[in-house]
Amino acid sequence: MNMTKSIPREEGLDHSLSLLREGYMYIPNRKKSFASNVFETRLLGQSAICMSGEKAAELFYDEEKFMRNGVAPKRLQKTLFGEEGVQTLDDEAHRHRKSMFMSLMTKNSLEALHEITKTQWQFAAKKWEQMEQIILYDETKEIMCRIACEWGGVPIKEEEVKERAEQLAALFESPTALGPQHWKGRHARKQVEHWIGGLVNQVREGNLTPPEGTALREISLHKDLEGKWLEEEIAAVEVVNIIRPIVAIAIYINFTALAIHHYPEQKEKLETADAKYFQMFVQEVRRFYPFFPMAAAKVRKDFTWEGYSFKKGTLTLLDLYGTNHDAELWDNPDLFNPYRFSGWNNSPFDFIPQGGGDYMMGHRCAGEFVTIEIMEVSLKFLVNHLIYQLPEQDLSYSLVSMPSIPKSGIILTDIKKIM
Ligand code: HEM
Repeated sequence: MNMTKSIPREEGLDHSLSLLREGYMYIPNRKKSFASNVFETRLLGQSAICMSGEKAAELFYDEEKFMRNGVAPKRLQKTLFGEEGVQTLDDEAHRHRKSMFMSLMTKNSLEALHEITKTQWQFAAKKWEQMEQIILYDETKEIMCRIACEWGGVPIKEEEVKERAEQLAALFESPTALGPQHWKGRHARKQVEHWIGGLVNQVREGNLTPPEGTALREISLHKDLEGKWLEEEIAAVEVVNIIRPIVAIAIYINFTALAIHHYPEQKEKLETADAKYFQMFVQEVRRFYPFFPMAAAKVRKDFTWEGYSFKKGTLTLLDLYGTNHDAELWDNPDLFNPYRFSGWNNSPFDFIPQGGGDYMMGHRCAGEFVTIEIMEVSLKFLVNHLIYQLPEQDLSYSLVSMPSIPKSGIILTDIKKIM
């Protein structure tokens, strides 16, 4: 006999506003009140299942049970993701496109990224020594934009950097915003895709030759399963899928600086720490601080899991932030403690700030190694090569607005570069 039980259900017509009002805590709050890792609600005018925890992540990344096409809401496609990019693909088409993304992440290219990142921090710090104060968030967006373009093979003039950094940042700062901020994001997407589309075209016509293995070159010349180049707009979306999230690493760098400030004993430890400790610190920043609240998919076909019935087509959200703070998985989850990673078993489903599962087969973030590399180099620079002060300012960050960024943007004064 097929024993099914009902999924705890949040009553009401629609809870999209509660999701906006509660942000990162929307799923964790209900997980607590229902005492369940799975519950049903209504979001964006449809039934939705929300899930949290390691087992839920394992289920969510089972490609036979969930799919992605037609899932992302228009407001995200028009800002954050773009249309018809790798995020929207399933099955063979997804694997083919994803393997192109993963081919950009070789050992050599990550070593090149390491050097580019170091040089860009040095360049920026030299400038900051001449300034009374800086807002770290604004500055790191520009640093990341330079890194993204150089590593991605995208030519950019120094005088363009500020504007392009702002446009790329508008793509991830605007998705859940209302009114003008949201429209700024939509407008920025058009500008950025127009810029990159033009470069794709130049590569194809032989007027621009970015180095082999860079995103602009490989994506421009990538052939789909039918042996054809991607449409110019889609190729632009995919190049932006590389350079936009590199600019977004500015958020993690701000949280890194915040952690160094809030936990002075950690800073002391880092000053003499080995590479392993730097790595654990970066992992803990990615676990502890909020970034992407959730990932979305839809049920591919009817199935039953742990007695719960999942119906084909149901929107399903996996709680990324809550899983990283799940007390069943992490001791004292609200404590910042890099040591917790010394014995971590590398499960692909318990630590999921950038999604879970397999890189090649599933939708796990293609840029996780890039993120870690840039964060490690940046952390080393902040700890060992920069002296600075933090004047009085509002360093709080929200668990509601998405993405969350320390309120002041982190103001630094009295900056000195040391060897
Ligand atoms: C800034 C920190 C980053 C965070 C927090 C982040 C987070 C995520 C998340 C949550 C997903 C979706 C996982 C899912 O749908 O299951 C994702 C997908 C993706 N990310 Fe990242 N990411 C970051 C940086 C990067 C970087 C640096 C790159 C490229 C260099 C990148 C490229 C991608 C791509 C291409 C996908 C789509 C993968 C697919 O659909 O198969 N991300 N990321």
